[in-house]
Amino acid sequence: MMCPELLQAFQRRFGSTPRIFRAPGRVNLIGEHTDYNDGYVFPMALDRYTAVAVAPRSDRMVRVYSASMEEEITFPLDNPRRRGHWSDYIAGVASQLEMRKVRLPGADLLLFSDVPVGSGLSSSAALEISSALAFLSLTDDQLAGEELARLGQSAENQFVGMNCGIMDQFIAVHGARDHALFLDCRSLEFQLVPLPSDHCRVVVCNTMVKHELGASEYNTRRRECEEGVHHMQKQWSTVKALRDLTLEQFAHVEEELDPTVRKRCRHVISENERVLDSIRSLRRGDLHHFGELMNSSHDSLRDDYQVSCEELDLMVGIARGIPGCLGARMTGGGFGGCTVNLVETDAVDLFCREVGALYRNRTGLAPAIYISVPSQGAHEWNSQ
Ligand code: GLA
Repeated sequence: MMCPELLQAFQRRFGSTPRIFRAPGRVNLIGEHTDYNDGYVFPMALDRYTAVAVAPRSDRMVRVYSASMEEEITFPLDNPRRRGHWSDYIAGVASQLEMRKVRLPGADLLLFSDVPVGSGLSSSAALEISSALAFLSLTDDQLAGEELARLGQSAENQFVGMNCGIMDQFIAVHGARDHALFLDCRSLEFQLVPLPSDHCRVVVCNTMVKHELGASEYNTRRRECEEGVHHMQKQWSTVKALRDLTLEQFAHVEEELDPTVRKRCRHVISENERVLDSIRSLRRGDLHHFGELMNSSHDSLRDDYQVSCEELDLMVGIARGIPGCLGARMTGGGFGGCTVNLVETDAVDLFCREVGALYRNRTGLAPAIYISVPSQGAHEWNSQ
């Protein structure tokens, strides 16, 4: 749905003229399961957005129609309850804003999204950030980028009950055209790094599966990392998170750790080093090395962090066998969802055809494949 269509759909449904805000989904190029370990990540914003049209109401109710779900929900601003429903992201954002003393009027909202849901492309962060901007537009308050990202994360942690890190909300706010974003999740300092689109493309392949264990395993991984930190603090009292360790230091203590915890820590510590190496490689234009680092990232997520699955491994294996594919890995939390692939520009058509056909032959599932252009973060969407 384009901006003028959304505007008209809103006018037809609610009889008033809205403002429209949108925020993108994301794909993470490298740096997986590092954000909640105070580490480094390197995502880019997708050219797929969640858009929220908004106008105020005179009561303290929020009425939301999702054009994608074809469903309407109403909830009160006073004590909204969690329902286990997509509207929780919006209610969570509203309640977090009010907790920060932003007094909201009621609102009519209309949503539309082309970020696929449940595919590891952060449709939830896109919804949180676009609805936060929509609510804020009804007040005199503003939030700086970092606070906006934190607000979205708190809505998800405290209202929805998913203990995610900051990466998804941060890139939804700060994404930039033609750039990926190198973020230090401890200081929240970031740098935009240009992606050389004349030489390569980022291709996202959706396995079309989502295994249910994702959320509980996510929280288990977080606990295992904390256990590792706890142990290593006995040796180095200044260690606050896995981010504070090098692989060299880790080699001195790894034998003392429980074997599962050891693997989890090894992934996070090595992944942080891979992100730093990736940034250096990209800056000197070495796409081949960057691709190799993406490959190692996948192998580490599969073997040490154990968050991959058969379909992701199959999709990655197929991709790596196609000439012109420089690197392939799972992206996002894991247990299904998408892979991210770095593909030489000349080889992209062949790549999409081959991955589509071979994956379908092996699984019977037709994968969605997106050639993705790094895009702009959250903004007001004007119809001109
Ligand atoms: C999910 C979370 C992020 C991050 C990734 C794994 O997408 O929302 O915060 O932890 O998993 O890198």
